[in-house]
Amino acid sequence: MKRMLSRMLVASGVLLGTCAISVSHAAEANAKPDAAAGEKLYVNGDTSRGVISCASCHGEAGNSIIPINPNLAGQPYEYLVKQLHDFKPKGDQAPVRNGPNGAPSLMAPMAAPLTEEDIRNVALYLSQQKLKEETAATASNEDTMERGLTIWRGGIASRGVPACAGCHSPNGAGIPGKYPRIAGQHPDYIAEQLRLFRSGDRHNSTEMFEIADRMSDRDIAAVADYAAGLR
Ligand code: HEC
Ligand code: HEC
Repeated sequence: MKRMLSRMLVASGVLLGTCAISVSHAAEANAKPDAAAGEKLYVNGDTSRGVISCASCHGEAGNSIIPINPNLAGQPYEYLVKQLHDFKPKGDQAPVRNGPNGAPSLMAPMAAPLTEEDIRNVALYLSQQKLKEETAATASNEDTMERGLTIWRGGIASRGVPACAGCHSPNGAGIPGKYPRIAGQHPDYIAEQLRLFRSGDRHNSTEMFEIADRMSDRDIAAVADYAAGLR
């Protein structure tokens, strides 16, 4: 019985083999990202491949309640895909998105095991989630509010810093395919990213490097707090 089965498998193998190849080629050529698969990976991770549950840090459906972990709900799909690539090395080049003082980002080991398919699935899932008002960040510093508002809407003309609103949109919602959402993001995270752009540890955007390079710590703190409160 055993021998007969294996002979049948060998005989049908040729056919099955060709079938499998053409199916997987078709799947690669026009594979649509799968939000349900993305959700599963986001919630549970996949221990067999060393993928840690994203939800354990980034919260339920991308609503992070831990200020150093960014919330991801409703970020544009293209932006999320780009970031997950930017945390990985490119060939023998180090990643373009790192932590302070050139240390690897905390995300480097999280992104490392993700396949192209994982990245697109999880990005689609997250881009479809809503930032929840109950847990979204808010502005909290009265003293710097005015300064933050001025920078957001008008930039800092004397130092050639453009208005943040010009790209990230007046309400901070971002623009799908182009600019990330900043509204409701944790202010500590926003400020940290501006410092990382400035130091070059996050060197995945010339635009943001040139902007952050002209900002003082006080400017950064003011605009980060203000932007967190935008909706
Ligand atoms: C141990 C906590 C932790 C886990 C687990 C984790 N992340 Fe992160 N994630 C972070 C931190 C911290 C940052 C900020 C990284 C930085 O500043 O370099 C981040 C940043 C990101 C960003 C960039 C966000 C932005 O606004 O630019 C994306 C996208 C992301 N994570 C996706 C994921 C996905 C998908 C998973 C699961 C496969 C995951 N993360 C697992 C902590 C975590
Ligand atoms: C010319 C367009 C432009 C302007 C003006 C601009 N940004 Fe950006 N910003 C971008 C782009 C593009 C990215 C995405 C970079 C990347 O690919 O990682 C970005 C990313 C960011 C991020 C990282 C978001 C995250 O989730 O990690 C922060 C924070 C940010 N910008 C804040 C600001 C602030 C504050 C200002 C105003 C002082 C500003 N930006 C002005 C284009 C702009």
